[in-house]
Amino acid sequence: MLHLATLDVADDDFAAAVLAGLAAPQMTIPARFFYDTAGSELFEKITQLPEYYPTRTEIGILRDCGAAIGQIVGPGRAVVEFGSGSSLKTPPFLRAVAASAYVPIDISAEFLAMAATDLAAKLPELPVFPLAADFTRPLRLPAGIAARPKLGFFPGSTLGNLGPAAAVDLLRAFGDTLGESAWLVIGLDRRKDPAVLEAAYNDAAGVTAAFNFNVLHRVNAELAGTLDPTAFVHDAPFDAALGRIEMHLRAVRDTAFSVLGRPFALAAGQSIHTENSYKWTLDEARLLARAGGWTPVELWTDAGAQFAVHLWRHDAASVEP
Ligand code: TRP
Repeated sequence: MLHLATLDVADDDFAAAVLAGLAAPQMTIPARFFYDTAGSELFEKITQLPEYYPTRTEIGILRDCGAAIGQIVGPGRAVVEFGSGSSLKTPPFLRAVAASAYVPIDISAEFLAMAATDLAAKLPELPVFPLAADFTRPLRLPAGIAARPKLGFFPGSTLGNLGPAAAVDLLRAFGDTLGESAWLVIGLDRRKDPAVLEAAYNDAAGVTAAFNFNVLHRVNAELAGTLDPTAFVHDAPFDAALGRIEMHLRAVRDTAFSVLGRPFALAAGQSIHTENSYKWTLDEARLLARAGGWTPVELWTDAGAQFAVHLWRHDAASVEP
């Protein structure tokens, strides 16, 4: 049952954000602009790459822990998925937790409509309320699920694409959106050998590079940009001190360009920083829960210690001795 009436248009100021990001000493473009339809499709390809272990590892963990999560949170919750993408890993999860409704939230309206239609066909009994929105901004959940208890679902280690301060703010906003006595199932990537991490973000087939370059092509197409793609390479090093993979479009020679008529220049070796992907130890992840206003209750991981699925509870601050 698909409630398409709730489809709402994500309005984001691509132009203002790009101009502000390029004006900084370390140029940046916010990562959310990767996800137009082409970018969302490239991202789906990334999730299937041999080097990109997170998606298949997380799906395996969810398959194994779904019933346990269902036991703990109880049946009949409305599942609210933040950044649902293709919603590929979702139907088994919705069944395992006996969801009573599903709210997929994604920034790409077109991608969301396709995925929601597909899902409604797979689970014809389940009310689905897609919401096209930037979930890093305040959200109003569809009225159709107001009365139901909520279970947030935030897989894919997407939280890691935000810095620590923004991640904590987002977790607090999720708590406000989902309400008292909500639960959150969140997938978080783990710290590991930098060589494994770097391969995951720089695959041999060049799909991650194409994904990174997609944002450059968007600037050229949508903001009258004149960036020369041949002047840049995809670069994705792990910074051990900061605990994150960084993605950059790095200039291989001096290059000048304009965006919406404004001039910019990069010297060889300088970069446009396009994304971070933080990696946490299990203890860091539990501290993050606390900082974001959640109580860590349980976690599940894989035999290779690569990825973790955490279950957190949102409840009123308790009084401690
Ligand atoms: N959040 C996931 C991660 O950081 C998926 C992801 C987001 C990603 N942006 C990406 C993966 C860019 C590869 C490249 O791993």
